Amino acid sequence: MNIGNQCWVFWGIFLYISVCLGVDYDLDDRTGLGRSFDGIGALSGGGATSRLLVNYAEPYRSQILDYLFKPKFGASLQILKVEIGGDAQTTDGTEPSHMHYEDDENYFRGYEWWLMREAKKRNPNITLIGLPWAFPGWVGNGENWPYSFPDITASYVVSWILGAKQYHDLDIDYVGIWNERHFNNKYIKLLRYTLDKRGLERVKIIASDNLWEPITSVVIADKELQDAVEILGVHYPGTNTVPKALKTGKKLWSSEDYSTFNDNVGGGCWARILNQNYVNGKMTATISWNLVSSYYDDLPFGRDGLMTANEPWSGNYVVESPIWITAHTTQFTEPGWVYLQTVGHFTHGGSYVALTDERGNLTIITETMTHDHSVCIRPPLPPYNVTAQNVTFHLKGTFASVSELQVWHSKFDFKTNKTVLFQNLRPIKVIEGSFSIELDVDEVYTFTTVRNGQRGSYPDPPSSAPFPKSYKDDFDVSGNPYFSEAPNFADQTGVFEYFTNLTDPGPHVSTLRQVVTQRPVTWVADADQTISVIGDYKWHDLMVSCDIYMEAVHTGGVFIAVRVDKGGGVIRSTRGIFFWVYADGTYKVTNDLSGMTVLAEGLSGTRARVWYKLTLTVKGNYASADLNGYPLWKNAVLWEPRHGWVAIGTSSFELAQFDNFAIEALA
Ligand SMILES: *[C@@H]1O[C@H](CO)[C@@H](O)[C@H](O)[C@H]1NC(C)=O
Ligand SMILES: *[C@@H]1O[C@H](CO)[C@@H](O)[C@H](O)[C@H]1NC(C)=O
Ligand SMILES: *[C@@H]1O[C@H](CO)[C@@H](O)[C@H](O)[C@H]1NC(C)=O
Ligand SMILES: *[C@@H]1O[C@H](CO)[C@@H](O)[C@H](O)[C@H]1NC(C)=O
Ligand SMILES: *[C@@H]1O[C@H](CO)[C@@H](O)[C@H](O)[C@H]1NC(C)=O
Ligand SMILES: *[C@@H]1O[C@H](CO)[C@@H](O)[C@H](O)[C@H]1NC(C)=O
Repeated sequence: MNIGNQCWVFWGIFLYISVCLGVDYDLDDRTGLGRSFDGIGALSGGGATSRLLVNYAEPYRSQILDYLFKPKFGASLQILKVEIGGDAQTTDGTEPSHMHYEDDENYFRGYEWWLMREAKKRNPNITLIGLPWAFPGWVGNGENWPYSFPDITASYVVSWILGAKQYHDLDIDYVGIWNERHFNNKYIKLLRYTLDKRGLERVKIIASDNLWEPITSVVIADKELQDAVEILGVHYPGTNTVPKALKTGKKLWSSEDYSTFNDNVGGGCWARILNQNYVNGKMTATISWNLVSSYYDDLPFGRDGLMTANEPWSGNYVVESPIWITAHTTQFTEPGWVYLQTVGHFTHGGSYVALTDERGNLTIITETMTHDHSVCIRPPLPPYNVTAQNVTFHLKGTFASVSELQVWHSKFDFKTNKTVLFQNLRPIKVIEGSFSIELDVDEVYTFTTVRNGQRGSYPDPPSSAPFPKSYKDDFDVSGNPYFSEAPNFADQTGVFEYFTNLTDPGPHVSTLRQVVTQRPVTWVADADQTISVIGDYKWHDLMVSCDIYMEAVHTGGVFIAVRVDKGGGVIRSTRGIFFWVYADGTYKVTNDLSGMTVLAEGLSGTRARVWYKLTLTVKGNYASADLNGYPLWKNAVLWEPRHGWVAIGTSSFELAQFDNFAIEALA
């Protein structure tokens, strides 16, 4: 043993000695290698998590994309998974389907196509995955279930993959089944069959984006299914697998993980699971929900992305710690590298992994995250201890001749708050195959033969600013708008997209139109009304106006609203002050989206296919509403909610249009 420091005096206490002198760890490929590494990635969607990103001005939008995708710059992500929009609420909003109706096809809706293209532009090797959360109503033929006609569902999903290639030259590598919901054996086999029939043999299937069971047992029991499924993908596995899953011989992925507030504890969570998903669970890919927090903070799971970019109006964004934690692995590996068998836990807590390529490169990543500084949102993390420790690595086999390693270091210092992220330290000499290092708690190190890692940077973006108090949108976009959705509107039920009526001689040629006409096959409990929110959640006193046009002749209804207090999966119970007019000539003011609490109602004379201007003013405890500039209703007294977003929407799944939207926030 190589002894020679003050720790000698504690020779009698074995544990202390082992801390001081260090414990030895072999990194050796002579007994064979471990599993093949498939990459670290992130998920856009599930749902609408990149909504605000697309409306950033340049150069900020490209900078954000560089921090996420550009190789050797920031997170250098190796996998991008996106939602296959299904017109329904999928956590922080809805994403549009490429087929709202059975006879409709459009591969330019939403922002996921654009995002995939931008990712590919930066990293042509990035792996692309598509997964549905929800489906348009016609796919379920009126039932809230996608498997009644599995052939329809399979060709719907396959058309998305074909459209990606045809319209965007994107090769989708993997497709999933139904996010965190039931799978169906017949459907999976039919999906495989349909892919093959359409020349998409190279597109592999991930199942089932839920728990280890029942998919593992079903795959073991059914040979045909075994052949159809390439990857067992599980969500939030807590770094563990089950023996049965290992026995399948399938690749195991954590196909959704993280979902933790992106402060330094979030960074700690990410560091711990990136290593331990392999060490404990033999999972060879980990995918973060979500990619970038580009949705309003007050929607569910605010800031659970690798970085934050939810202020397109200011240009402000924040490169949070998970970006640099990702870089520790991604900048020094590529999918196709292989884990060594010699990976594991350190004696005094923490873990290490080592990966190699075909040319004898070696990348070692260590993490020593303490329990309280690395708790993820789920599952519960059992207690464990980590202490500072000396470790000695012995490089053997192919790696015995390595003489120097590049060193990258991150440390979350919760005492002094002096966090260091992805710092390039002096290379470490490897002497006769060995090197030692003192690891403190809450640190990540990369030791690697790869020399071209880089901590990318841009000048600081503009400072953070609240949503503008005075805001207007006439939805007039010349030519074909690049995105189908108007900036800053976050659809919570239904889909609102740009519409051009070339036969309209008047001022309403370009409008925003709600286009979902049938309740989708939902993922959560979408409202029975459609609604899109916008603005600052803290707003309380304001005036909102909008021109509206009901298309549904007898049953139509449209609203504008303020102080809208909820979005996401709880959208059904949203409250606020809602001003509705209906095609049957009546109006209503309600205190909730469901229309249960009526504050006022009466005759408005409104009908379908006529444009009207609605104005809603709320100040303190008083609200009033105008129709075409004439007061319909005045100074109603209201108490709750005290603040919230502005919203527009319809009384059912029906076509309706909106134009000349304007907000004046008074406070
Ligand atoms: C690691 O070793 C150094 C010197 O060899 C010693 O000073 C230090 O106390 C040790 N650290 C720990 C955490 O034991
Ligand atoms: C893509 O992969 C190939 C093969 O592994 C590699 O040579 C190339 O450098 C990669 N390109 C990027 C941009 O990572
Ligand atoms: C590691 O890979 C690089 C290419 O990225 C190659 O040039 C180098 O020779 C490799 N290093 C070793 C030790 O094999
Ligand atoms: C962690 O260390 C403390 C103090 O030494 C001890 O009481 C506790 O049992 C340890 N916890 C675990 C999970 O080992
Ligand atoms: C540590 O830094 C964070 C981020 O800058 C800050 O929010 C927090 O208040 C700081 N904590 C202490 C104890 O200084
Ligand atoms: C388009 O404009 C024409 C002329 O104003 C109108 O008759 C028609 O209803 C409009 N179509 C839609 C879908 O709004």
